[in-house]
Amino acid sequence: MSFFTSTIGRKFIMATTGLLLMGFILGHLLGNFQVFLGQDAFNSYAALIKSMPAPLWAARAGLLVIFVTHLATALSLTRTNRLARPEAYKKPATVQASPSSLYMMETGIVILLFVIFHLAHFTLGYLQPEFFHLIDPQGRHDVFSMLVHGFQNGAFAAAYLFCVLVLSVHLHHAFQSVLQTLGFNHSVYTPLLRKVGAGFAMFVFLGYGSIPLAVLCGFVTLPFAA
Ligand code: HEM
Repeated sequence: MSFFTSTIGRKFIMATTGLLLMGFILGHLLGNFQVFLGQDAFNSYAALIKSMPAPLWAARAGLLVIFVTHLATALSLTRTNRLARPEAYKKPATVQASPSSLYMMETGIVILLFVIFHLAHFTLGYLQPEFFHLIDPQGRHDVFSMLVHGFQNGAFAAAYLFCVLVLSVHLHHAFQSVLQTLGFNHSVYTPLLRKVGAGFAMFVFLGYGSIPLAVLCGFVTLPFAA
């Protein structure tokens, strides 16, 4: 058996792909915060990314490979765990587990469905096509107005809020798992890093959640022409 097919090897793959995905989640959130700077800043940022097709497609391909590897490894580890644990011992084994660790597979599936929904919404424009082809006064794709129109719909805003809550629950446990897998065990730094993980999960929830909420509360609004 090779390292990468062993349980510890697969946990290592989960941890490294998970950390890379967390990096994307943080970067995407910081980029999205530019929505608070207004239409021009946000659309300039979106146009800048699209003006570099080669790095953009390389990043997209990398992200897809990382995401699929993370998912496939999660399924493979779950299968190994189920085979190793007879049904009768299932309940006692989960008694000590925290709620977020119990629901990693379920929250992961919600995140997968969210990503498909989100790509169909903002990247492919299938869900609200009437807002997908807007152009701003500078002649650029008006991603800002698309986003604001999107979240002015309460059902869409609520769906995003729910999904980022689920994402933060998943991240909370994921971060604790990474520390365990990488064998990080220090009397002072481990508790500190656990708090950093909890803080990161909270930041992701509040940060992403603040965007639909700001639109719903009228704090971020459409420019006059849109
Ligand atoms: C309130 C929360 C979010 C907002 C407002 C938001 C906004 C956006 C927008 C506007 C785009 C399209 C950019 C464009 O085509 O110009 C986009 C793409 C994307 N978002 Fe989000 N996003 C949110 C949450 C998330 C989360 C939580 C994830 C991951 C778990 C995510 C993953 C992606 C991915 C993978 C893309 C496609 C990037 C690409 O085009 O290659 N987003 N997002």
